[in-house]
Amino acid sequence: MSADSPVVVVANRLPVDQVTDPDGSTRYQRSPGGLVTALEPFVAGRGGAWVGWSGAAGDAPEPFESGGMHLVPVSLSEEEVDRYYEGFSNASLWPLYHDVVEKPEYHRHWWDTYVQVNKRFADRAAEVAGEGAIVWVHDYQLQLVPAMLRQRRPDLTIGFFLHIPFPPYELFTQLPWRSAIIEGLLGADLIGFQQPAAATNFVNLAKRLHDLPTKGNTVSYEGRTVVAKSFPISIDVSVFDELARSPEVLARAAEIREELGQPEKIVLGVDRLDYTKGIGVRLEAFEELLEDGVIEAPSTVFVQVATPSRERVEHYVTMRETIEQQVGHINGLYGSIAGPAVQYFNQSMPREELAAMYRAADVMLVTPYRDGMNLVAKEYVAARGDLGGVLVLSEFAGAAAELKQALLVNPHDIAGVKNQLVRALRMEPAEATKRMRAMRRHVTKHDLDHWANSFFDSLEAQA
Ligand code: ADP
Ligand code: G6P
Repeated sequence: MSADSPVVVVANRLPVDQVTDPDGSTRYQRSPGGLVTALEPFVAGRGGAWVGWSGAAGDAPEPFESGGMHLVPVSLSEEEVDRYYEGFSNASLWPLYHDVVEKPEYHRHWWDTYVQVNKRFADRAAEVAGEGAIVWVHDYQLQLVPAMLRQRRPDLTIGFFLHIPFPPYELFTQLPWRSAIIEGLLGADLIGFQQPAAATNFVNLAKRLHDLPTKGNTVSYEGRTVVAKSFPISIDVSVFDELARSPEVLARAAEIREELGQPEKIVLGVDRLDYTKGIGVRLEAFEELLEDGVIEAPSTVFVQVATPSRERVEHYVTMRETIEQQVGHINGLYGSIAGPAVQYFNQSMPREELAAMYRAADVMLVTPYRDGMNLVAKEYVAARGDLGGVLVLSEFAGAAAELKQALLVNPHDIAGVKNQLVRALRMEPAEATKRMRAMRRHVTKHDLDHWANSFFDSLEAQA
């Protein structure tokens, strides 16, 4: 491996996922989730290297080129997938950082494997990065990499971005390895968060846990100044906008309406199947409105698309069963020969199909209990070049700080969710247009380039 890349992205996942078909052959497909959605156009545009896991256990494939990117796979054994990925990353950190929506579990052998795997990522990044390169490390799976990398390569400029929320002192300090995580992150020159409050939480932790001198959003550490700042992430708005305007997507949107039996209203949810997303709350609100006789099925239909995610982690297994039962229950009561009340897909869909669904949907329901940003909300806005559609958005999604003209809801308040859903379904087109126009103005200005450039400008200013 030549050590010459000037920009290196390090993330748990590569942008493509290796899958094995029933006949034993392997192929690559797009990896799930918001991190890949945001980073892929950025790395491809710069011709950078991307160090990450291929999504399959076992030996890592050789580095390869894909979509203008140099991809450098890191291997994970079965045991490491179990302990580092499913265990510490997704059953300890993920619930802890999302307001303990589910109870986190802490196990010493998970932690030991997390350290071991973070070392491997740091080794790989150290091999790939050119002299004085910029290395940008991403997300909660790799919080120890900044310090490990600095130790191996003091010549590098290191940035870190956390895609998910960062909890306050009162929650974070549950973690038995809290000090090691803070020290790991302090290896970076710049630590980016989705929200200003998350950056403040980090600085407070550095001060209270490590007794470090802090000033505003900076921490003094081992003779360096570490900056913690918010950089709300976004999507490639113009590309998504264009996709959603294409004749193929518009034709498909009309076809979707047709296939659903020309309902008066289509309500849509699009998520990874994750317990933080509040999918059950939406179903509950929808069911109660049917029960109250406020809406009728299938003239109002709810389409929920949920990508399979982390399918071996216990909370995900139980949540999938609960959601499927809820859908079955609603359709049993309110479906008819004319069609079900809820159309549920536990599938990943191509981007063109998602864009067509966004175009076809009268109301988009985004109701997470906690979410770092939520790119689905921004995709919906980017797709509505016709200025149609109404977005119902949780106050607890990072996107709510920007998409102020959405109908905001508290997902813990079922009556409130019902009220806003009814308001969305009955909104006059003139008001919906006004709201959508304002949100589109915001996302067009604050797109992916804006996010990446502001992070890079801040990082280069420190180099
Ligand atoms: P998270 O990062 O937690 O998954 P985000 O809303 O930020 O949540 O990002 C989710 C990304 O995954 C979006 O780009 C969205 O389009 C994509 N996505 C969600 N559901 C599906 C699906 N069923 N099929 C394909 N892509 C999906
Ligand atoms: C979120 C996380 C990402 C993660 C993605 C998909 O977006 O912030 O780090 O890659 O979910 O989850 P998965 O576990 O499939 O990588």
